[in-house]
Amino acid sequence: MSMSRAEIAKHCKESLKNIHLGTDDEGVQTAKDFYKYFFTNFPDLRKYFKGAEGFTADDVQKSERFEKQGSRLQLAVHTLAEIFENEMVFKAYAREMVHRHRVFKMDPALWIAFFTVYTGFLNSRGAVNDQQKAAWMALGKEFDSEIQSFLKHLGLPHV
Ligand code: HEM
Repeated sequence: MSMSRAEIAKHCKESLKNIHLGTDDEGVQTAKDFYKYFFTNFPDLRKYFKGAEGFTADDVQKSERFEKQGSRLQLAVHTLAEIFENEMVFKAYAREMVHRHRVFKMDPALWIAFFTVYTGFLNSRGAVNDQQKAAWMALGKEFDSEIQSFLKHLGLPHV
């Protein structure tokens, strides 16, 4: 059963109810928690994070860099859900992410893989149901599709 844009956006936003943004203890911890999960479960991807290639969850916990990076990432994920209903803005934001990541020379297959990582993170917090997962995958598919065509347009590696 396919979902409308509005339904996709609604389910994604609902799945982020416990992903608090803020300078309070909860906001700071939620930010770090993403990278603790990421580096523990996908250690090969640490290679893109210069100087943190060997970081463990404990290193992330003590890191000011990943406190800041985690807040940016969580804000970006909230943003995806908030702007999904405006297709033009959503696609422009996807292209902006290509510019911001260009310097890391990421494997282009990682753009869609991110949504498995992120729903896995939500799952690890017991906060995601099947419909919400399906909504993130639908959003991710559109995000990835815009990114891959933009990479192609720029003459960069794409899938
Ligand atoms: C920054 C990798 C997917 C949002 C970064 C940095 C790296 C990176 C290496 C620099 C941080 C540092 O070294 O301290 C990756 C990888 C991805 C991925 C490997 C896929 C598996 C995404 C996605 C989003 C995103 C899908 C959007 C939802 C950001 C943001 C920053 C960032 C907001 C902060 C820097 C900035 O805004 O310019 N990413 N990224 N990333 N990434 Fe990603």
